[in-house]
Amino acid sequence: MASGAGRRGTPGTGRWWAPGRVNLIGEHTDYNDGYVLPLALPLGMTCTAAVLPDGKVRLRSRQAPHRPVDTTVAALGTGGWSELPAWSHYPLGVLREFERRGHEIPGVDLDLDATVPIGAGLSSSAALSCAVAIALRDLFAPTVSAAEIIDIARTAENVYAGVPTGVLDQSASILCTAGHLLFLDTRTGATEQIPFDLDAVGLSLLVFDTGSLHRLVDGEYARRRDECAAAAAQLGVPFLRDIASADELDRLADPVLRRRARHVITENARVLRIAEQLRTGADPRRIGPALTAGHASLRDDFEVSAPPLDLAVDTALAAGAHGARMTGGGFGGSVIALVDRDRADAVRTTVREAFANKGFDAPHDFTVTPSAGAHRL
Ligand code: GLA
Repeated sequence: MASGAGRRGTPGTGRWWAPGRVNLIGEHTDYNDGYVLPLALPLGMTCTAAVLPDGKVRLRSRQAPHRPVDTTVAALGTGGWSELPAWSHYPLGVLREFERRGHEIPGVDLDLDATVPIGAGLSSSAALSCAVAIALRDLFAPTVSAAEIIDIARTAENVYAGVPTGVLDQSASILCTAGHLLFLDTRTGATEQIPFDLDAVGLSLLVFDTGSLHRLVDGEYARRRDECAAAAAQLGVPFLRDIASADELDRLADPVLRRRARHVITENARVLRIAEQLRTGADPRRIGPALTAGHASLRDDFEVSAPPLDLAVDTALAAGAHGARMTGGGFGGSVIALVDRDRADAVRTTVREAFANKGFDAPHDFTVTPSAGAHRL
């Protein structure tokens, strides 16, 4: 199906947008068949795309102006990826995956520009993969479903970029809607949009991008996945999702596997509890303690936090935040804090001062409201 006719403007061209995300709660649960509760950021990736003839692929990124890529659809099917810049594996992996699934790409020009910070644990890579995926869908394969787009984007990351992520980030980028949290059961794919209007109750969600290293490729993320799989196997279940209570973990002899599993089990319970509180209209301030408990669990049981993340959490709480936690895969990245709107500036200042006192780089902070998922502009 190669129509190439754009809905607006010049046929065969257009602009598409996909957001990054913060995950309110439900960290390292996605590859355990569990629950997640993300929201889309107003920051993300724009992809300007145009049909090209003769199988040509032209790829540019405003964030990597010195590394343009000019290749062909055919060349991408025959290897040589190691010579391409690492960032290009995401968009080109998406393209290749469309082809592999039988959707012919006659040639395409892709121009990318990010507003989401790269490597901050805010899903810049999923924003990139998803923006390209919906552009290719609309230009060349309009019958591809949202579920398949998520799968294509995730496969691009797993196979072509070599990062063994779960499905959280791509699902958030494609399925989130403005004003809502996305409650997703990663086992069944069932979703629910839960209203999350913090402004109406005088609250703000602050994000602190700590600027510290966030590299899931480094092997620690994959190791956590392996540890979870090993714990599930020893407990005789397909996934840790299938363990109802942390009491069952005494059966695990290895204390490390016990801690990893305890994080996943208690985290799933926190997602369910917070989703239930919010869907029944509780004051969102009441979810604060579970957010903070989620951070302690990631720090102590899952061991994916980092000193700047702990400092941002502890300082935000001391300055009056109702709850705070790292968000995303960890090993650096970003922290979220739920604060009264009229305390937001004080919390920001206190965290900045604490970072300066410790000699850490100043965090980049901003407020987020749940924004729209991926769409054509
Ligand atoms: C990264 C991965 C996700 C998820 C989170 C942790 O963002 O891309 O799939 O596992 O870490 O919740």
